[in-house]
Amino acid sequence: MDGAPPAASPAGLSAYVAVSQMLGLTLLATTGAWLGRYRGGVAWHSPLQFNIHPLCMVLGMVFLQALLVYRVFRHEAKRSTKALHALLHGLALLIALVGIIAVFESHRTKGIPDMYSLHSWCGMAAFVLYLLQWLLGCGFFLLPGTSFSLRSRYKPHHVFFGIALFVLSIIACLLGITEMLLFNIRDSYSLFVPEGVLANTLGVLLVAFGLVVGYVLTRDDWKRPPLAEELALSMDFKTLTEGESPGGGTQ
Ligand code: HEM
Repeated sequence: MDGAPPAASPAGLSAYVAVSQMLGLTLLATTGAWLGRYRGGVAWHSPLQFNIHPLCMVLGMVFLQALLVYRVFRHEAKRSTKALHALLHGLALLIALVGIIAVFESHRTKGIPDMYSLHSWCGMAAFVLYLLQWLLGCGFFLLPGTSFSLRSRYKPHHVFFGIALFVLSIIACLLGITEMLLFNIRDSYSLFVPEGVLANTLGVLLVAFGLVVGYVLTRDDWKRPPLAEELALSMDFKTLTEGESPGGGTQ
C-alpha cells in the first residue's frame, strides 16, 4: 500500500532476537573468562597462540555466523540488507581464518600433527563449506547479471546450507571444548573442578544459542516480507532477464 506505515515486527520476534543476542554475548564472555582465568589468556607468536583459536572460532563461526539481518532489518531496502548480510559473513570468515591460522601455527611450533581429530575434520569441513557458501551467495545474489530463475533455484540450497553449516559449527565447537578439556584437565575433570564446569557451561550456552537462533530462522511467519517496490522491481527484473511474464516472489 502506497504511503502506508511499515508493519510492526511480528509479536515475539524482538524478544527472541534480544534473547539470542544476550546468549551470544554471554557465550563470548564465557569463552574469554575460560581462556583468561584458566588458560593464561591469548597472544600471537607465544605459547598462548593456541588460545586465539577457540576465541576466534566462537566469535566468527558461531556468534557472527548467526546472522538475523533479514529478520531484524525488515523495512530497509533489500539491496542494503543483502550487502550487510554479505559483509558481516565476510567479517566472520576473516575472523575464523585468523583462528585457523593460529591453531595450525601453534601445532607447527609445538610439533603436533595436523588434522588427526574428529574435531579438526568437522571444523575444517564447516570452515571450507562456509567459505564456499559465501562465494556462491555473492555470485548468485550480488552479481548483477545472474538471472532471476537461477537465483530462485539456488535460494533454497543457500537457506538450507546456511542453517546446516551453523549447526555443524556448533557441533565442531562442542567437540573442540571436550577435546581441550581432555588435553588439559583429564585427571580432575570428573571431580567437577571449576574449569570443567565453566567449559561445560560454555557448551550448554552454545546449544541454547543455536536453538534460539534456529527457532527464529525457521519461523515462516517471521520471514522478511517483500516491500511493495521490491515486488514491482522483481517483476521488471524477471521480465528483463528472461522475457517472461512476471509472477512469484523476490530474491
Ligand atoms: C567452528 C569452530 C571451529 C573450527 C572450524 C575449528 C577448526 C579446527 C581445525 C581445522 C583444527 C586442526 C588444526 C590442525 O590440525 O593443525 C582444530 C584444532 C583444535 N581445535 Fe578447533 N575449531 C573450532 C572451534 C574450536 C573450539 C570452540 C575449541 C575449544 C574450545 C577448539 C579446540 C581445538 C583444539 C584443542 C584443537 C587441537 C587438536 C586438534 O587438532 O583437534 N576448536 N580446530
